[in-house]
Amino acid sequence: MRVLVLGGDGYLGWPTAMHFAARGHEVLAVDNYLRRRLAAETNSQPLLPTDDLPSRCDAVASLSGKSIACRDLDCTDGEALAGLFRDFAPDTVIHYAEQPSAPYSMMGYDQARLTLQNNIGTTLSVIWAVLRAAPHCHIVKLGTMGEYGTPNIDIEEGWIEIEHKGRKERFLYPRQGGSLYHTSKICDTDLLAFYTRLNGIAVTDLMQGPVYGISSDEADRDARLRPHFHYDDIFGTVINRFVVQAAAGVPLTVYGSGSQVRGYLDLRDTLQCVELATLNPPTKKFEPRILNQFTELFSVRDLAERVKQVGDGLGLEVGIRSVPNPRKEREEHFYQPAHDGLATLGLKPHVLSDDRLAEMIEFVLRHRDAVDVGKILPRVSWA
Ligand SMILES: NC(=O)c1ccc[n+]([C@@H]2O[C@H](COP(=O)([O-])OP(=O)(O)OC[C@H]3O[C@@H](n4cnc5c(N)ncnc54)[C@H](O)[C@@H]3O)[C@@H](O)[C@H]2O)c1
Repeated sequence: MRVLVLGGDGYLGWPTAMHFAARGHEVLAVDNYLRRRLAAETNSQPLLPTDDLPSRCDAVASLSGKSIACRDLDCTDGEALAGLFRDFAPDTVIHYAEQPSAPYSMMGYDQARLTLQNNIGTTLSVIWAVLRAAPHCHIVKLGTMGEYGTPNIDIEEGWIEIEHKGRKERFLYPRQGGSLYHTSKICDTDLLAFYTRLNGIAVTDLMQGPVYGISSDEADRDARLRPHFHYDDIFGTVINRFVVQAAAGVPLTVYGSGSQVRGYLDLRDTLQCVELATLNPPTKKFEPRILNQFTELFSVRDLAERVKQVGDGLGLEVGIRSVPNPRKEREEHFYQPAHDGLATLGLKPHVLSDDRLAEMIEFVLRHRDAVDVGKILPRVSWA
């Protein structure tokens, strides 16, 4: 297949590009390095520096003989993106090209505007590139489980049937974003649902939970192929942050009571899920397929205890501290999200085992000198 990866320089986009290239697909990775720019502006650089896309594509070619093409392009530029779709004629576009940080989106007006304009802008451009230049291309879009919030009822996969005054209708499941970033993803889902309803384009919207890890079959081959690994409060996801805190001897920063439950997944399972979605396009026309993409539920407190236990076993003395929650969110809440769709397509989850956590902590211990402890405590408050 011809697979276009938008956001191909990113934490998930780069391993995705390598994953598809390794399986014989023709891959074009596109990025405008927004993430690198925002990380530098907010002093949130990753644990280790990563080469730019052309250098990493060269490294893949020299190590494996597989080729990944790359382009520096702003995906909010609808004309340029449509031109690229015309030239490359993708069978599938995997759309990661967004500002992915909730704290960043809550820093102030400029960051809120950038998040909204960029995220809705890239999604609108992708939809129109498909409409204008590649009508049979399947859009695989990364949404987030955070779109649903934490309602006091079961969370379904994208849709819910509601009976009201004796009549029934099927709606997109209600969304309640906890940050402006999450709200931008809700707008994406609405745009995708709208244009699918009108035009019958093929769309899979993946509601993904927080991802952890740095390993994939391809990334493990050589240090130059690793994705960027953020452990700061703005761009780091919680398991990655705790692992670095444990290795650096900093008490794990549990926000508030730590009772917040979310669905998590290993980076390798993101790759599996995206591949399963790509190889099995949706069968219903005029409705986006929405799949909830996570493998295990944990509370933040559970995760801290797990990391502490494994870290202590490695001879570290891992502390846990509760810090005032910088977010406005329910800490005690019901959480029961469905996640059958990807399992039905064949997902075989990698679970968060003690060995897996130990591998991650040992990886950071080898680079402990690179940890900047000034990036650990929350710097952005929702208040
Ligand atoms: N990482 C997670 O835990 C997680 C969880 C749920 C959802 N997601 C979603 O998955 C996607 C990828 O997340 P990630 O963690 O890899 O983030 P990332 O920031 O590492 O990757 C996104 C990439 O897109 C690029 N990009 C952004 N705007 C662009 C534009 N206008 N033009 C071209 N490139 C652009 C960035 O430079 C970056 O390299 C995002 O949409 C995010 O919302 C991520």
